[in-house]
Amino acid sequence: MMLLLLTLAAVARGAAARPPLGDLESHFTAETESEEVRSAAIKRLLEVFGMEDPPAVHGHKQAPQYMLDLYNTVADVDGVTKDPYLLEGNTVRSFFDKLHSEQVEFRFNLSSVARSEKVLTAELHLFKLRPQSTLAFNRHHFCQVSIYQLLDTSRNNKTQGRKLLSSRLIPVHSTGWEVFTITQAVRSWMVDEDSNLGLHVVVRTLGGSTMDMKMIRFASGRTHHQSKQPMLVLFTDDGRRATTLESLDPNDTTDTETSNLPQTPMSGPSSRTARSLDYTEEETASLPCQRQPLYVDFEEIGWSGWIVSPRGYNAYHCKGSCPFPLGQNMRPTNHATVQSIINALKLIRGIETPCCVPDKLFSINLLYFDDDENVVLKQYNDMVAGSCGCH
Ligand SMILES: *[C@@H]1O[C@H](CO)[C@@H](O)[C@H](O)[C@H]1NC(C)=O
Ligand SMILES: *[C@@H]1O[C@H](CO)[C@@H](O)[C@H](O)[C@H]1NC(C)=O
Ligand SMILES: *[C@@H]1O[C@H](CO)[C@@H](O)[C@H](O)[C@H]1NC(C)=O
Repeated sequence: MMLLLLTLAAVARGAAARPPLGDLESHFTAETESEEVRSAAIKRLLEVFGMEDPPAVHGHKQAPQYMLDLYNTVADVDGVTKDPYLLEGNTVRSFFDKLHSEQVEFRFNLSSVARSEKVLTAELHLFKLRPQSTLAFNRHHFCQVSIYQLLDTSRNNKTQGRKLLSSRLIPVHSTGWEVFTITQAVRSWMVDEDSNLGLHVVVRTLGGSTMDMKMIRFASGRTHHQSKQPMLVLFTDDGRRATTLESLDPNDTTDTETSNLPQTPMSGPSSRTARSLDYTEEETASLPCQRQPLYVDFEEIGWSGWIVSPRGYNAYHCKGSCPFPLGQNMRPTNHATVQSIINALKLIRGIETPCCVPDKLFSINLLYFDDDENVVLKQYNDMVAGSCGCH
């Protein structure tokens, strides 16, 4: 039985590119083989999610409310994208201030962003606190809040130590989040990491004189609750559109490995696996092509530590036969219709019925902690079978 399975596996791998059977046999022990397959499969799955290793997350962290709200706006409970045009790029990251300065100065470590990513928009989110009550009856109703990028004056003969990025009038008595666009600065930091000296906030009266920072206060990472911490939110696009097509490198053998997974027992005696495989194949033949559930559980995979949402998602799969005649509910291509006719007429030997495959795919969203414990929202294309058809 074992030998038969091995032979099957070797045949399925095809192209005779594999070592001879004897070589396989000598390496084979059920346990190490299934462990190897498992780790190879998990590694491949991480690649689908654009990662080399699972992020290391220490302790229980709370994701910023802004990121949770954003996730709930773009994705449904299952992680499936509600509206593909809502988000311009496919990645949103939040960073916390690393400086914790007593001045209104902030610095964000952007080293986790790949150079190849296209920066679309960067925002500084500051939480404005209520003015202290003793100062509340002030003659000023508005103040001018300006965000400056700090520059290194010793480089490139710069005479100005800072550059204005954004400036706006804000009611003195308001409280809540204020958002400033700082895209220019982040673009320059992406080109030259060492030029990132941070941001400086200046508040002035309408007349232009500097205002007391006791009056206009912003929450800082030092003294205020985590939920009010200054935050940089970065919208980027990593250029990964169709993950499925990218892996079609002729030298990349991982795909053929993965398709062999059912032949290699993951657990349990091999004879049982073989029998249950036979059984499902018989069952499949009797049903017409249709979409069936396929739940991918992140907890089962061991990823629940770093993925905030979703806990898992329904990828669905396509199962069933595509016999002649193919009705419109089978969503056949013209090619599939002709193939099914040739098959039915037995005009040419060896022509199978068309295959039951996904003909529409949806993207999903993941909200997760990266290696630096920044919270990232990322969209992945072609992850959920939206419908099935005979192709
Ligand atoms: C930014 O974070 C990376 C990775 O955590 C670290 O290696 C690097 O030293 C940090 N840079 C600064 C300027 O703190
Ligand atoms: C900076 O200024 C010095 C003298 O003031 C000059 O010699 C040098 O070429 C300048 N460097 C650049 C990069 O402009
Ligand atoms: C595949 O590998 C061969 C030899 O190892 C190499 O010459 C060729 O450029 C590779 N093709 C691709 C698409 O990487």
